[in-house]
Amino acid sequence: MSSDVLKISARNADPFEGQLRVPSDKSITQRALLFGAVARGTTHVASPLRSADSLAVLSVIQELGATVTKYPDGWEIEGVGEQGLRTPSRPLDLQNSGTGVRLLMGLLAGQGVRATLTGDDSLQRRPMQRVLAPLASMGVTIESHREWRLPVTLLSRLPLSPFHGQTSVASAQVKSAILLAALGARGLSVLEEPRRTRDHTEIMLRRFGVPVHQAGPRVEVSGPASLQGCPVTCPADPSSAAPFATLAALRPGSRLRFSDLLVNPRRFAFFEALARMGVAIRQEHTRDEQGEPLADVVVEGGPLQGTTIVPEEVPDMIDELPLVAVLGCFAEGVTEVRGAAELRVKESDRLEAIAGGLRALGAVVELFDDGFRIEGPQALRGNSLSARDDHRIAMALSLAALHAEGTSHLEGSQSVQVSYPGFFEQLDRFQIAKLDYA
Ligand code: S3P
Repeated sequence: MSSDVLKISARNADPFEGQLRVPSDKSITQRALLFGAVARGTTHVASPLRSADSLAVLSVIQELGATVTKYPDGWEIEGVGEQGLRTPSRPLDLQNSGTGVRLLMGLLAGQGVRATLTGDDSLQRRPMQRVLAPLASMGVTIESHREWRLPVTLLSRLPLSPFHGQTSVASAQVKSAILLAALGARGLSVLEEPRRTRDHTEIMLRRFGVPVHQAGPRVEVSGPASLQGCPVTCPADPSSAAPFATLAALRPGSRLRFSDLLVNPRRFAFFEALARMGVAIRQEHTRDEQGEPLADVVVEGGPLQGTTIVPEEVPDMIDELPLVAVLGCFAEGVTEVRGAAELRVKESDRLEAIAGGLRALGAVVELFDDGFRIEGPQALRGNSLSARDDHRIAMALSLAALHAEGTSHLEGSQSVQVSYPGFFEQLDRFQIAKLDYA
């Protein structure tokens, strides 16, 4: 990813008001593309997220034989049907997309395809054993020269053996990969998670005609099973609303309305934590769309107090935790997160990255192996910051910089392209920030 420096300072410290339809959900867009690719018939994906991660998945499914037509309002995928994927002639490059590569591993396994998968430097550093070991237990042959890291080659011959067991980590990516591989197994696969994680795969598989049974942390699917193309509408991403909700929280008296927001409880814990911290959160026009709950969500900033995030909540707000650290710097009292060691193996080591960035701004942050503790409020001063080429860190640190005295220089700001192209332009539109590419 490009090395780029953004100069950031606050235009004012005033409350603001507005309405926002943030970009569409990254998890749902990537699933729609992957499922559509192997489905029979046509899958129309309305309002997809057009970002680096989803475009990486889109070009990979084209290499695998799916036909994609782009329209102004969405993408139409002509699926290849079960076992119709073609063997790619070169390694499939998922760039920065952890969800893309891990789900694709399961999908390819379940379709009996041989392929080599790779990604950018960050993705090549991330652990893949959590997905590859269960796939190997189902009969997939894995070739890897780097101890389960990318690039890896998967060789799958159908039928696979069904999966029975617990996943090693609470990860929707791992769960989804196993469920997708289970489509090519003969018999019932039963998996249990240490903690429940986002359930978009289960919901969307049902939409594509595959019965999935879920009870608590246990999920079951029977193979062999095939998918039938269907329309998918992508709602607004709560993880992309979270930085702007944070901004409203940091400016008491602010009021923001997020339209068409996904409010699936497995994705909404950050907003619940915000409510505990003193932010008013209201859902309006709550509705069901294709099995996913949606609402317009109104956020109103008030005086902030610290909160404790317990391990049970972590999977339901995993991508929002860097923002909790930013909020902790400005909230009265202690903000503490535990049980979040997974943050160390995201696009960057997010615990190190957020603590390092906030410390550079002068904050006192206590760092644990699995979380952090911050006592607020603290006065921050502008400085040089690194996003470590991680989109969530770029957004979180830019918000901290906007509430620090003076100017900051954020290196790696373009990483926001991964999930929120136009993030900084939106900040500009609210006339909150002075932004300048150095
Ligand atoms: C995702 C799951 C989460 C999350 C990622 C998207 C998904 O990862 O961090 O941004 O779409 O399934 P883990 O499931 O590995 O925690």
